[in-house]
Amino acid sequence: MPTTAVAHPNIALIKYWGKAQGELNVPATPSLSITLDTLCTRTQVQSAARDRIVLDGNETDDAKISACIAALREAHALPPIEVETRNNFPTASGLASSASGFAALVTAIDHEFGLGMDAATRSDYARRASGSAARSIHGGFVRLSGPDWRARQVLAEQAWPLEVVVAITTTSRKEVSSSVGMRRSMDSPFYQGWVSSTRVDYEAGIAVVIERDFERLAELAEHSCLKMHGLMLATRPGLIYWNSATIACLHAIRELRASGTPVFFTVDAGSQVKAICAPGRASEVANTLRALPGVIETLVTGLGAGARIVDDFERQPGLAE
Ligand code: PMV
Repeated sequence: MPTTAVAHPNIALIKYWGKAQGELNVPATPSLSITLDTLCTRTQVQSAARDRIVLDGNETDDAKISACIAALREAHALPPIEVETRNNFPTASGLASSASGFAALVTAIDHEFGLGMDAATRSDYARRASGSAARSIHGGFVRLSGPDWRARQVLAEQAWPLEVVVAITTTSRKEVSSSVGMRRSMDSPFYQGWVSSTRVDYEAGIAVVIERDFERLAELAEHSCLKMHGLMLATRPGLIYWNSATIACLHAIRELRASGTPVFFTVDAGSQVKAICAPGRASEVANTLRALPGVIETLVTGLGAGARIVDDFERQPGLAE
């Protein structure tokens, strides 16, 4: 019987950008994220005659997925594996499909082949494939920090049910991947300042999440986002992930907040804007963002659970379970 796992993308409120020295894909900075609900990756694995990877219906030769399976094989005897995986949102456009993808993959393989890994160990393997994937193992508010660089939950999703509006401003793939971009940014004159100040932002972020202080979180998260994009811009050649609709969204979100709507923005290595809203406030924010020129569509989601095993691979994309 094949096993299916579901995992959701997560969005960092305190970002990581940059790698530590060494082999195991250890981030240079700690990070703090929220796991989403409606958006998901659904991954089915089973033993097969040869390794085979099918992504959104097409057979692919994905080097990162193969490397993740190879890392698991170093510690466990695994047969050839067929992996079939589907996202219900655009792949590689700043919506962190790699995060949900690797969290689902490791969780499905662990279950199908009885590897007996705990969440911390699954988070470790997911991180080696994609730094942010370590965090999608858990639901709600999640932190990723040293010394072991395995993600841990800070607050469950029900404890502070924030809502998120994702403004889609492009459907194309980003031109520079996160790993290439990060490598380049490490030569930026801003890099050391980014690393040292993010450690301080991270500690402050954990405290405001535990206090559920929306205003302080808004200030910290927007600062972390803008500081990361400042570093990206100050990289050679400069990394400009935003488009004009991205900037229109940022201004609109600031205006909404100034006029009393509890909302703040964050943007990852792409041009989609994520508007984080206090509970119950997403629809008014979505209405505003949808009306802006260049916004193709908006998706609304709450906070979701961590990677888990589900019964059925065939359930319609769009449903969380
Ligand atoms: O997961 P990676 O290694 O592709 O990097 C993701 C980096 C950001 O999304 C920009 C920030 C973060 O902490 O998720």
